[in-house]
Amino acid sequence: MTPACPTVTGMRVLVTGAAGFIGSQVVDLLVTEGHQVVCLDALLPQAHGGTLPDWSRRHDPVIGDVRDAELLDRLLPGVDAVCHQAAMVGHGLDPSDAPDYAGHNDYGTAVLLAAMHRAGVSRLVLASSMVVYGEGRYRCDRHGVVRPAPRRPADLAAGRYDPTCPDCSGPLRPDLVPEDAPLEPRSTYAATKLAQEHLAGAWARQTGGGVWALRYHNVYGPRMPRDTPYAGVASIFRSALAAGQPPRVYEDGGQRRDFVHVTDVARANVLALTAPTPDGLVPVNVCSGEPHTIGELAGQLARAMGGPPPQVVGGARAADVRHVTADPRRARELLGYTARVGFVDGVTAFATDPLREPAAVAA
Ligand SMILES: NC(=O)c1ccc[n+]([C@@H]2O[C@H](COP(=O)([O-])OP(=O)(O)OC[C@H]3O[C@@H](n4cnc5c(N)ncnc54)[C@H](O)[C@@H]3O)[C@@H](O)[C@H]2O)c1
Ligand SMILES: [Zn+2]
Repeated sequence: MTPACPTVTGMRVLVTGAAGFIGSQVVDLLVTEGHQVVCLDALLPQAHGGTLPDWSRRHDPVIGDVRDAELLDRLLPGVDAVCHQAAMVGHGLDPSDAPDYAGHNDYGTAVLLAAMHRAGVSRLVLASSMVVYGEGRYRCDRHGVVRPAPRRPADLAAGRYDPTCPDCSGPLRPDLVPEDAPLEPRSTYAATKLAQEHLAGAWARQTGGGVWALRYHNVYGPRMPRDTPYAGVASIFRSALAAGQPPRVYEDGGQRRDFVHVTDVARANVLALTAPTPDGLVPVNVCSGEPHTIGELAGQLARAMGGPPPQVVGGARAADVRHVTADPRRARELLGYTARVGFVDGVTAFATDPLREPAAVAA
């Protein structure tokens, strides 16, 4: 395999969330490319049910919490960079989980940043998310780029899923979202992901450190968690098909997303870890650059698994965004990253990829 960056080898990297779906793939790639890893994961019950996945065992992870300052003070000396993947993921069920999201994601990030400052570690790659944008970007033929008003329940109930122009009520075309688009987190999870960026940005200004905030789009691939309320849509479709059921697609299935393979996301992380340290915090979309609809994902996976075709069930939820697809240019220009795994190949392989077993304690 070609190294992500031929000039930088032998870094020592603390990877938080190292037993997770994405963190474990980052760890494997770092090791393959000759770096040393210090793996930290709290094995969150809603993610793991307390068991370490087999693929993480070989890296001898430290089982501990990113909010444990004393533990970080022991792990950080000698570390060149931190790759911060640990988070409580998913969109949440109701406001009762807000303290947990804020605790793991924001207080956890704050404790980590303070410990990095004490240890003199100045390079951070932060796992951020497309959810910081809220709705994607839209263009009206008459008014150019506009921000659509939230979709009205009456429109959704009538099957009018696409947002309209706030100025002329005309149709809008979905466009690619650049990193400088307005930010509008719409869930507790999304709010805590954006707060992570703000905390890391403040840390960078105070310390002179640098942060690549990688805004992943819809990540799928081997090791994705199976069957949890927090699982991504690809995993939910696969579980339905494995049980002989059609994948159930909300709205009309025309929601556009960017599905990016987890091995590409891992490579983006290694490229960011080995790139020159940026000035302050620089957000970067990590995507495939190849938008597809949720209906296409369900259809492709159903074909790959020889299962029943998708069932379009309508039933949009007002908080859901209609389209969000990423502009891939900044990642190419600043990190030399372009996705390698195409949609058909990635989704076909996903039909048989190993998945992480569901947590014993369903949240
Ligand atoms: N999966 C996606 O599509 C996606 C998209 C955008 C962003 N992200 C971000 O990528 C990162 C990794 O997500 P993932 O999909 O691999 O989720 P995951 O649940 O598989 O992995 C997260 C890991 O973090 C660990 N963790 C959580 N809180 C912790 C704490 N306080 N201390 C130590 N470890 C802790 C969990 O035990 C888990 O192993 C997260 O920051 C997530 O917000 C994921
Ligand atoms: Zn208009």
